[in-house]
Amino acid sequence: MEKLAKLSYDGKSVEFPLVEGTENELGIDIKTLRAATNLITLDPGFKNTGSCQSAITFLNGEKGVLRYRGYDIEDLANNADFLEVAYLLIFGELPTQEQLDKFLVDIKEESFIDEDLKKILESFPSSAHPMGVLSSLTSALTAFNPKTVDIEDEEQLYRAIVRIMGKLPVLVAWVYRKKSGLPLKYGDYALGYVENIARMMFRKPNKEYVANHIVDQALNKLLILHAEHEQNCSTSTVRVVGSSHAGLFASVAAGISALWGPLHGGANQAVVEMLEDIRQDGGDINKYMKKAKDKSDPFRLMGFGHRVYKNFDPRARIIKKSANEVLEDLGIVDPVLDIAKKLEEAALSDPYFVERKLYPNVDFYSGIIYRAMGISTETFTVMFALGRLPGWIAQWREMRLNKEPIGRPRQIYVGKNQRPFVPLNKR
Ligand code: CMC
Repeated sequence: MEKLAKLSYDGKSVEFPLVEGTENELGIDIKTLRAATNLITLDPGFKNTGSCQSAITFLNGEKGVLRYRGYDIEDLANNADFLEVAYLLIFGELPTQEQLDKFLVDIKEESFIDEDLKKILESFPSSAHPMGVLSSLTSALTAFNPKTVDIEDEEQLYRAIVRIMGKLPVLVAWVYRKKSGLPLKYGDYALGYVENIARMMFRKPNKEYVANHIVDQALNKLLILHAEHEQNCSTSTVRVVGSSHAGLFASVAAGISALWGPLHGGANQAVVEMLEDIRQDGGDINKYMKKAKDKSDPFRLMGFGHRVYKNFDPRARIIKKSANEVLEDLGIVDPVLDIAKKLEEAALSDPYFVERKLYPNVDFYSGIIYRAMGISTETFTVMFALGRLPGWIAQWREMRLNKEPIGRPRQIYVGKNQRPFVPLNKR
């Protein structure tokens, strides 16, 4: 029997069907609400609103479950290669060796940047924030690849995907190199996708590049953990921008801007800056716990809390373990790791955080690993963007293939009522 939700209003009663997902989550399908009642729903921050049906990622915030296309995040982070995961997210299935090889070859074919775009990068001031530069350059990619993608044409859609998968890592590496005062160089295309990214980023002009296996593995894991997270702020942005039939590059550029903010991807930078501030201030954890709980103080414990996870963030568990291992393997003693662990311990037993179900999120420990790799704090979120790219592509592709309507929410107007224009000399 069809499940229904009943809405009673002004003496009338209207019924709406319930939609059930494959993991038995239920939602009320209110597509006909306005036509039937002239009402709209009001849900700031979309805390209760599903914007689409999606087959890409399953997330259960109460149980701390995250799956890409049905595969547990732990399984993927421990066993898979980032490019395999990217293929899985975008096309729905893990690739065969042949499919993976072809994907890599096609991406490498596109792994170059127009020299004129390089000039744009060179003209940015060295003080520019890497996320602003990356978003601008990704947007500029559109100017160099102006065709809109015809999604009915599978080959064209595939070409757009491999193009951005090829070009974004070069841009990321160059944004990092420019910030570090290093010459802009290409990688070694005999290498794998992630190994090549590491080489493009870390190769020094005065030394032969020797790959560091620990760094490559840690990077692979971090990119997988960041690859997709259903309808978060940046992904929703990518889908909404793409819903106007703007191209893939333009939509991803908008996603990068959304990711930049400290409440979203920018938290990885904010966390390490916060930990560093605490360290320089004498390492008094209790002082900062008090600040975080004080409603008159804007300070928040960065890297804590999540809109969906209300138990634990499975990515944070994997990253914490990885941070310990990477620092140990690289022989690095970072005092902020110690401060992070103490803060986590204090928060997990503090009623304010327990009552509000605030746990460490993916960004709490990721910056510590990036810092151990030698990446500057301002560049952390750029690494997050690189990891999230397959997720954005998968969601954009799904949204277009499902022929979703243009994203255009409504509002409840609370401004002035109609009034006559007052000429300037009478105001
Ligand atoms: N420190 C102190 N208090 C907090 C924190 C925090 N980090 N996060 C939430 N709260 C409190 C908040 O003040 C509110 O308290 P009250 O009910 O008394 O008003 C309650 O917890 C609920 O918070 P909210 O802001 O309504 O929750 P939200 O779902 O709108 O926001 C969040 C989620 C992630 C934006 C928020 O927890 C936050 O700002 N965290 C710090 C920034 C951060 O780490 N962001 C990364 C998120 S994960 C990766 C990603 O998205 O890219």
